[in-house]
Amino acid sequence: MAVNLKGRSFLTLMDFTTEEIRYLLDLSRDLKAKKRAGIHNEVLKGKNVVLLFEKTSTRTRCSFELACLEEGAHVTFLDSKSSQMGKKESLEDTARVLGRFYDGIEYRGYDQKVVEDLAKYSGVPVWNGLTDVDHPTQILADMLTMEEHIAKPLNKCKVVFCGDIRNNMSYAWMYGCAKMGMDFVAYGPDVLAAEMDKETIAKVEKVAKETGATITVSSDVSAVKGADVIYTDVWASMGEEDQIPERVKLLTPFKVTKELMDSTGNPDCLFLHCLPSFHDFETDMAKQQKELGYDIREVTDEVFRSRNSKVFDEAENRMHTIKAVIVATMG
Ligand code: CP
Ligand code: NVA
Repeated sequence: MAVNLKGRSFLTLMDFTTEEIRYLLDLSRDLKAKKRAGIHNEVLKGKNVVLLFEKTSTRTRCSFELACLEEGAHVTFLDSKSSQMGKKESLEDTARVLGRFYDGIEYRGYDQKVVEDLAKYSGVPVWNGLTDVDHPTQILADMLTMEEHIAKPLNKCKVVFCGDIRNNMSYAWMYGCAKMGMDFVAYGPDVLAAEMDKETIAKVEKVAKETGATITVSSDVSAVKGADVIYTDVWASMGEEDQIPERVKLLTPFKVTKELMDSTGNPDCLFLHCLPSFHDFETDMAKQQKELGYDIREVTDEVFRSRNSKVFDEAENRMHTIKAVIVATMG
């Protein structure tokens, strides 16, 4: 059956079928090739998009802005300081107003319920640019990167997410793997495994049964064996910086090192990371934390810069995949 995503919101991959995700990946590849050939069909000409950011961003914001501009749409950017949202105007009223002005709304912030409510009340497609519990556009970029570098289909691949296994990226990967019939391992400390939402895992496992995916949570390093992708993320996500001391203590054994990459037994295992990453001390935060006695690097510089690392291809793919999501749902 032909896939038609017009008018749909993109809040979580759990809302999409395997075929719909396949369609978005194929469209991403197509739009990437077109951009490289200098072809922009301006399929979004006359459309208006608003980007709401309650958390900071480099890749996601630039991807949404460029995707819209390259396809002819107009963009407004609002951060939490420069809008009334939540402070002087309810979310429902904000959504109803923005729905009158705009053809599509991107939101990055805290609560997943905000993207859900924006979609419910605005009447236009809403795209999740990251919440505390999900980051679905990132997974499309990650999968596209895998397909560009791994010579086997996604449903034959194993992805191991290392570190803060209860964060938004870990859940987002769990959803993506379940939908695409992949093997997913959350490799991290038992105490964080205990914090994972049981109801969500049960839902994911139900999907996994249908697609042939497997979902494993483990603190045993043997779980990384046979991985096609070792993935990690910062140990304290945006808004959780006060938890750095305890996270460093908990997660240092799960740092991505050359030894961990070798433990996969796969010399071609990719290293992927959503970025931004602490892999050296060239950031203010890494330096400040080092002075306080905390090494917050979740991956060594050696792995980050190795031939297995495709993190900058992955970053570029944010732009192509986000463009695909906008074109498919609003175009
Ligand atoms: N990966 C990602 O979402 O990057 P930004 O925080 O820079 O948008
Ligand atoms: N887990 C990270 C992802 C950043 C793209 C955060 O939420 O800060």
